[in-house]
Amino acid sequence: MPSSPFPRVIVNYKAYETGIAEAGLKLAFIMEKYGKEFFGIAPQMQDLTFIARQTSIPVFSQHADPLDEDKATGWVLPRSLAKAGVFGVILNHSERPLPTGRIEETIALARKYGLSSLVCANSPRRAREIAKLSPDAIAVEPPELIGTKTSVSEAEPKVIEKAVKNVHDVNPDILVFVGAGIHSSGDVSKALELGAYGVLLASGVMKARDVEGEIKALVKGVKDGLSK
Ligand code: G3P
Repeated sequence: MPSSPFPRVIVNYKAYETGIAEAGLKLAFIMEKYGKEFFGIAPQMQDLTFIARQTSIPVFSQHADPLDEDKATGWVLPRSLAKAGVFGVILNHSERPLPTGRIEETIALARKYGLSSLVCANSPRRAREIAKLSPDAIAVEPPELIGTKTSVSEAEPKVIEKAVKNVHDVNPDILVFVGAGIHSSGDVSKALELGAYGVLLASGVMKARDVEGEIKALVKGVKDGLSK
């Protein structure tokens, strides 16, 4: 299991302009005010060291490769990520899919260097297969809802229940995140009520007109979800 607890909300910066370089650090500082138990972030690769060294909230890499040698030009090594101060790696995002064998190798290598692994799955069924690889966490995201205003919590609550069941049938220690279209406090609280540990999101924060207002809404969602 991970050395320190996972945050409840992980904001994937993807390649949004609002998360690159100084803008990404500024965004991290806003989330940091609310605590590392609430927020984690996944900035662009080139900003990882710069941001991880200046913020106390957990920082994730958006991807990693299962390589551990010096002659590895252009690859993202878990060993380098650990040196950069990264908390964990996101693997198999639907925008960066990976074959199962590579996911398994990368989870193991990440663990060797003390990094947590959060593996994405596009369905509860795929989540069950991925659970057999023993990552620390799995994020289930229906691809058709990614980047939309319709959240998985409102449109596909059964996907959340099924994802939690499928993963925990295999291994109850794996944390289940859900994502796609999450933007309101109600989206977050509902996901938690349905059994998810947390949420993975991007556009709700990265495209928000009132970023701090959005962040406050997400914190409220976590608090509401945990109090029910
Ligand atoms: O990694 C988060 C993700 O794919 C969901 O994106 O924009 O629907 O929150 P979004």
